[in-house]
Amino acid sequence: MLGERLDNRMRHLSKWARKQSITCFRLYERDIPDFPMIVDWYGDSSGTSGDAVAWFFNRTKDDTPEREREYRKHAEAEILAGLAIPPSRLFIKHRGRQRSEDGGRDQYERIDSRGVVQVVQEHGMKFEINLTDYLDVGLFLDHRPTRLAMQQRAQGKRVLNLFAYTGAFSVHAIGGGATHTKTVDMSKTYLEWYARNLALNGFAQSDAHEIVHADCLQWLEAGPPADERYDIVICDPPTFSNSKRMRADSFSVDRDYGELLQWISRFVAPAGEVFFSTNSRGFEFDPTQVPTGFGCHEISHRSVPEDFRNRKIHRCWRLAEGWKPRERKTSFEIDRSE
Ligand SMILES: C[S@@+](CC[C@H](N)C(=O)[O-])C[C@H]1O[C@@H](n2cnc3c(N)ncnc32)[C@H](O)[C@@H]1O
Repeated sequence: MLGERLDNRMRHLSKWARKQSITCFRLYERDIPDFPMIVDWYGDSSGTSGDAVAWFFNRTKDDTPEREREYRKHAEAEILAGLAIPPSRLFIKHRGRQRSEDGGRDQYERIDSRGVVQVVQEHGMKFEINLTDYLDVGLFLDHRPTRLAMQQRAQGKRVLNLFAYTGAFSVHAIGGGATHTKTVDMSKTYLEWYARNLALNGFAQSDAHEIVHADCLQWLEAGPPADERYDIVICDPPTFSNSKRMRADSFSVDRDYGELLQWISRFVAPAGEVFFSTNSRGFEFDPTQVPTGFGCHEISHRSVPEDFRNRKIHRCWRLAEGWKPRERKTSFEIDRSE
């Protein structure tokens, strides 16, 4: 059943992906209750071959180790058959706790060191993904529509990318003609990865396209230098972060997003816009937390990609400085015609 399902999804989505000019997409997410997993496809940049990554979730609490082993063997065989790939092209990960609040394994920690990398394509941009060493591969597929929107609106703009991870939003901004980008993250590893993503696309770090190794919260709290304002800010923070800048010595998006948005608002140019997104499942947005002078509306119905069955994978809002209600109609046009 799983193999058949993957085969059908692959046939359908590979045509769609070619039209969209993307080589990586979500094939499967808990479609069949007996196979609780996510399977993503990462086609190489030539589009001729690819790799599958499967994240297995715990099936039932009372599974014995023997039954669990049987299940995994069976599921793996189904994936290989369904996608017609050899075992060397399937990468299996186990997903339990996703975000570390109290010392559990951090989602961003290294879990392996084989360093199997691949280059994928998305709307004309190339990205390095790492299939083995981390729980995530280096490109969050659920933000693909927002990255395309970034590319389409970046011409001549100054862009600030906060909690930037491997810098995919910045690559799309530069590809779309941004005059300046600033890419901020507290992880050297991910910023080096971003530098490789820049190089893959023929771009480089420069005075115009800066990389900042910093705690975003500390950096934002300090406020912008007099002339530093951005037309587009993208802020996709982790659900939790150990940062001494926050009241509780840690950042929780559920609790601290209001303060975060206030800090960000000081960096926004007149008529500028902020895209704020979160994967926190329990997140509740209170409009009274929107900074004065900004309008805000939720765009999740358009920012979650078509290949995602889980429509609640993230939520995303657009905040606009000097926003007027009539702007709503054209505020987040995603061109899917290419
Ligand atoms: C949720 S991801 C961001 C995903 C990214 N926006 C994207 O779509 O590719 C988390 C990133 O935030 C970074 N991070 C976590 N806490 C941070 C902090 N306080 N300051 C700066 N970066 C932080 C991590 O290093 C990681 O790269």
